[in-house]
Amino acid sequence: MNSPSHQKICTDLTEQGWTIHDNFLASELVHQLKQECHQQHGQGLLREAGIGQAENYAIQQSIRGDQIRWLENGMSASIDMFLAEMNKLRLLLNRQLFLGLENSEHHFALYPPGAFYQKHKDQFRHDDSRTVSSVVYLNPNWQAEHGGELRLHFDDHYQDIAPMANRLVLFMSADIWHEVLPTQVERLSLTGWFRRR
Ligand code: OGA
Ligand code: MN
Repeated sequence: MNSPSHQKICTDLTEQGWTIHDNFLASELVHQLKQECHQQHGQGLLREAGIGQAENYAIQQSIRGDQIRWLENGMSASIDMFLAEMNKLRLLLNRQLFLGLENSEHHFALYPPGAFYQKHKDQFRHDDSRTVSSVVYLNPNWQAEHGGELRLHFDDHYQDIAPMANRLVLFMSADIWHEVLPTQVERLSLTGWFRRR
């Protein structure tokens, strides 16, 4: 990423609470991450995602229908590279926005055809550590009729974002109501949160 892009990301987050940046990663890395996600899915490693935390945790497909796997360093070369990029992004946000982000967590998410995620905010009821939400999409050749947009909700309007390969979306976790509209085809992404203590 060049420095005008850095600047735009930081200005957008400050002024409107969200930003979008296309061609975020090397295209080869996006391809490898997509393969990795498919491979893990094929091995049965993705699990139905839940909502809430600790004793409030529940799986409810009427609210969200994706399957996820949390990423760890050492899972694959591509995941290591992805986590390194996210760490660079964390340091940028700290340098420019003084957010004091201490770490980040990321998972693969696979939405099978028909899946969606109802309108929600990303912070938990008893835990405000999630500060900036991030999504990187892994879907080459996404078409409008595939649906699956990320819809950001504002007071008097909404913004739909197509889950196109190599698109990065960042938004302030505490502020932005959002949902994933029903997807017609399999939809892959890397979702995560930059957190403070
Ligand atoms: C989430 C989420 C958005 C997306 O996982 O919390 O809102 O576009 N994902 O996948
Ligand atoms: Mn969310």
